[in-house]
Amino acid sequence: MSEKLKIITTGDGSHSLYNSELQETYHNSAGAFRESIHIYMIYGLDSWLARNPQKYPIRIFEMGFGTGLNAWLTLVWAEQNRIPVLYHTIEAYPLEKEIYSQLNYIEHDHSIWHFHKYFEPLHNAPWNEGGPVSEYFNFKKDNVTLEEAQLYPSDVVFFDAFAPSKQPELWKKETLQKVTDAMRPGGLFATYSATGQLKRDLKALGLEVETVPGPPGKKETTRGWKGRGQ
Ligand SMILES: C[S@@+](CC[C@H](N)C(=O)[O-])C[C@H]1O[C@@H](n2cnc3c(N)ncnc32)[C@H](O)[C@@H]1O
Repeated sequence: MSEKLKIITTGDGSHSLYNSELQETYHNSAGAFRESIHIYMIYGLDSWLARNPQKYPIRIFEMGFGTGLNAWLTLVWAEQNRIPVLYHTIEAYPLEKEIYSQLNYIEHDHSIWHFHKYFEPLHNAPWNEGGPVSEYFNFKKDNVTLEEAQLYPSDVVFFDAFAPSKQPELWKKETLQKVTDAMRPGGLFATYSATGQLKRDLKALGLEVETVPGPPGKKETTRGWKGRGQ
């Protein structure tokens, strides 16, 4: 296993990773699984769908594939809702199989156990190619930095970079602009961060910014809408 990465168990029993070089975890230590469901599924995809009931497929851009938890839960969401999703994610530092094969996500929630067969295929999928992984989930992951990535038009953004205090370059207004420029009208930008600077920058970039309740361990998070759309 990469020496700087250690598997940890978060407050809801699901795994995350700790990067000792950055002194940073991949998820909220109060609960990785709960964080992903709360911020990206409920306050992300469910909210977007409520405003855009017939606008399929949903085009998602994720900054930071990491453990694949957001991607896998989105696949589950797409299959359960029978809504086609085109998922584009980028990752500068892919995990080794030795690490992702030990993560406990597929056994964490038994109600979605039957989707376990899709977790490793997300990791095993070739980089920079893309294609269907399940009936409703089309997936492309690029091994590239955000700075160098080519972005496609997106309806929903999961901005899941390491914290602004650890990787400030990824939260600079110019970097955020690259992402918000690629959002389609009506698009939703979802993230766990709730700094005042982020909110000011997203507002200056033309988004309607909302502070929304966070998952356990995080009082608030941020999301931004690119106009009303449709
Ligand atoms: C908070 S973690 C993402 C967690 C992930 N979404 C999940 O579901 O497990 C941040 C990720 O961004 C990646 N990363 C760091 N710098 C990057 C960059 N400049 N461009 C793209 N990815 C980067 C890290 O390697 C890490 O996997």
